Amino acid sequence: MERFKPLRFSRAGLRGLKVSATLSINEQVRQMWAEGREVYHLGFGESRFPVHPKIAEAFQANVQQRSYLPALGLRELRETIANYYQNKFQINVSTDRVVVGPGSKSLIYALLLALGEEIILPQPCWVSYAPQAHLLGKPVTWVPTGPHENYNLEISVLEQKIAESQLNWGNPEVLVINSPQNPTGAMMPPQRIEELADFAREQGLMIISDEIYALVTHGEIPHASIAQYYPEGSIVLGGLSKHLSLGGWRFGLAILPPGRAGRALRQALLNIASSIWSCVTAPVQYAALVAYSGDPEIEEYIELCTRVHGIRTQYLYDMLVELDIPCVKPTGAFYAFPSFKKWREPLAARGVHTSDELAQYLLDNYELATLPGTAFNCAPENLCLRLSSSYADAGTDKKAEKLLKVYQKNPDPERFIEDHHPRMHKIASRFADFINDLSKG
Ligand SMILES: Cc1ncc(COP(=O)(O)O)c(C=O)c1O
Repeated sequence: MERFKPLRFSRAGLRGLKVSATLSINEQVRQMWAEGREVYHLGFGESRFPVHPKIAEAFQANVQQRSYLPALGLRELRETIANYYQNKFQINVSTDRVVVGPGSKSLIYALLLALGEEIILPQPCWVSYAPQAHLLGKPVTWVPTGPHENYNLEISVLEQKIAESQLNWGNPEVLVINSPQNPTGAMMPPQRIEELADFAREQGLMIISDEIYALVTHGEIPHASIAQYYPEGSIVLGGLSKHLSLGGWRFGLAILPPGRAGRALRQALLNIASSIWSCVTAPVQYAALVAYSGDPEIEEYIELCTRVHGIRTQYLYDMLVELDIPCVKPTGAFYAFPSFKKWREPLAARGVHTSDELAQYLLDNYELATLPGTAFNCAPENLCLRLSSSYADAGTDKKAEKLLKVYQKNPDPERFIEDHHPRMHKIASRFADFINDLSKG
């Protein structure tokens, strides 16, 4: 460990912690753009549509709200969210079970801090869960999932991994699930969620259910929440970052279990929130009141943005299918997670053996920026990449806004893609060139 005077770093949390892969790809892309190079950015996962005018208005009207608010959120806001979840997701929620925090990411960290000794994570999964467990010094039991099962957790594999860990003196007791999922766009069908709920109840598992993409679904699978089947043992996470493109506003929420256990967890979160972040930014809480009011105009806007995400994500998926690149069909979020494993020999001949090397190769040779599967704890030799549809042809606020406008004028998906997505087409032709080159051996 490098030594500085007078700063001395703590090893406990920092050892082995890397800067997020997303940031490092972004930096490389920025550098290439600065050099005047053309880069097609599929690495950036952010919904980029404008702030809905009614939400912007509420924020502006409350700019003078500068006092600290209750650490777990305004009561009125928690009540509004409880009603929203009841209407939207048929989860029976009382106001005292809702807490809000500065982004679901911070709430997940607080929950991982408050609950259990060890964490169970599906593999692959979103980039931040494992580093958070690492920062907390909590061991992780990995449960592999794969394309054969649509990246859904298999109960038998989960059971086996828990048993293996217990045999090794482990105590895995908090499972994090995420549907719709980042990085695959896959969703857990209601039946699998019900099976998982039965298994969790039998085993006494606590489940942190990251449902941040719950309203960004565009396929045939309906979103189901584990809280419908296992309310006593699950905590549901949500927020405004995805369906309302408000990631930078840092607003997240959690729905806690009912009863005494839920109240104890609420107290733990209150202790953490009041010791770390105090409260969610006041104008954001007032704006969130409007965002969760159920206003039909805002609901329509969410549906519009989701449809547009769906069409753009589907385009990426269709392109992969056309090129015979194996990929699970995304039905939620704005990601696709193809594997290039079947080309491992021609790739090896080009010096590419891992998904990191593959992402670098595509950036260097085809100006395609993607994220390697390893960022999501997917084995390097699976040669998986996460492609995000959120940025292409929506690179500036103006372009993103224009996309919504032209789609509203003519909501024909084919015309929408054909006429307004020149960069998506370029992306498709570059992938075609790449696969064409690989097929030469
Ligand atoms: C699966 C998943 N969970 C949580 C988050 C964090 O969202 P928030 O902005 O609410 O912290 C993200 C954002 O990328 C995500 O993809």
